[in-house]
Amino acid sequence: MNSGDIVQQRKKIIFSGIQPSGVLTLGNYLGAMRNWTKLQDEADCLYCVVDLHAITVRQVPAELRRHTYETLALLVASGLDPDKNILFVQSHVPAHTQLAWVLNCFSMFGELSRMTQFKEKSAKHSDNINAGLFTYPTLMAADILLYQTDLVPVGQDQKQHLELARDIAIRFNNIYGETFRVPEGYIPQTGAKIMSLADPTKKMSKSDENENAVISLLDPRDVIIRKFKRAVTDSGNEIRRGEGKEGIGNLMTIYSCFTGKTDEEIEREFAGKGYGEFKMAVAEVTADGLKPIQDKFAELMAEKTYLEEIMKTGAERAAKIAARTLSKVYRKVGFVQI
Ligand code: TRP
Repeated sequence: MNSGDIVQQRKKIIFSGIQPSGVLTLGNYLGAMRNWTKLQDEADCLYCVVDLHAITVRQVPAELRRHTYETLALLVASGLDPDKNILFVQSHVPAHTQLAWVLNCFSMFGELSRMTQFKEKSAKHSDNINAGLFTYPTLMAADILLYQTDLVPVGQDQKQHLELARDIAIRFNNIYGETFRVPEGYIPQTGAKIMSLADPTKKMSKSDENENAVISLLDPRDVIIRKFKRAVTDSGNEIRRGEGKEGIGNLMTIYSCFTGKTDEEIEREFAGKGYGEFKMAVAEVTADGLKPIQDKFAELMAEKTYLEEIMKTGAERAAKIAARTLSKVYRKVGFVQI
């Protein structure tokens, strides 16, 4: 494009949903959130706290409410600028449920039955296999498709849901003509995959029952130190990556994320030193790295009205974009517009 060209390249639209189901982890931060701050200038990003999704399993109301504030506060505390990104809560934008209903009518029983997360969750919550759990992926498709999203940062566990969202979009477009942009998954090159401290072959997950497996973003320094001290490693004594050394490899990844050091630099730094010393060093850089986030978080949680302002502005901005897609959909399927 030459400089006289007035055609501007449209910024990519990025959408992601975060469940308010507990405190976010070091894995969420290093694997995803930290990279989102780098996208905030080059893309139009929307981050949605998905409270509607959360009630597909039983929630204690007061906890859900608190987790919703906390999740939003953690997004802001970890560097997402509420002016540059649209940060909002799903239940504040009714278009999500409105589009979800329409998409339910374009999603097949068979394809929803094949979702592995549905199968897993219905096994885990066998006393509450509700219809919302079953249609969870169509609500997620609505989240994404409402904003004409280009890219969806998703982990492995959400790939099948994203694939379904694409299928639904393509199906609808084939029947009614171009309505939805068909989204792609987005795996940032810089995102680190952080593993469980108790089983380093498994991803660190906030739903892990073993609390020693997970560093929460709000863990105080002494808890961080205790958890790293107990982190599962191998019976060797060398700080390097290798077969059977997934635990040490995971600690090296974390150390590298906070210090910017390469594997070779880390190996050199800890040559001849034991695992105990290395674990302590990883714990220290983690505690130091999380400190500013924790301070900012505490400040935000003490000032709920500011968080509520962010929610309100975010919902207004999101609703405006969502309304365009929803009205197009309503018109195309044949609803009378008044
Ligand atoms: N299902 C996602 C999860 O559990 C959360 C989510 C809801 C989401 N809607 C979304 C993620 C839209 C990406 C895009 O992690």
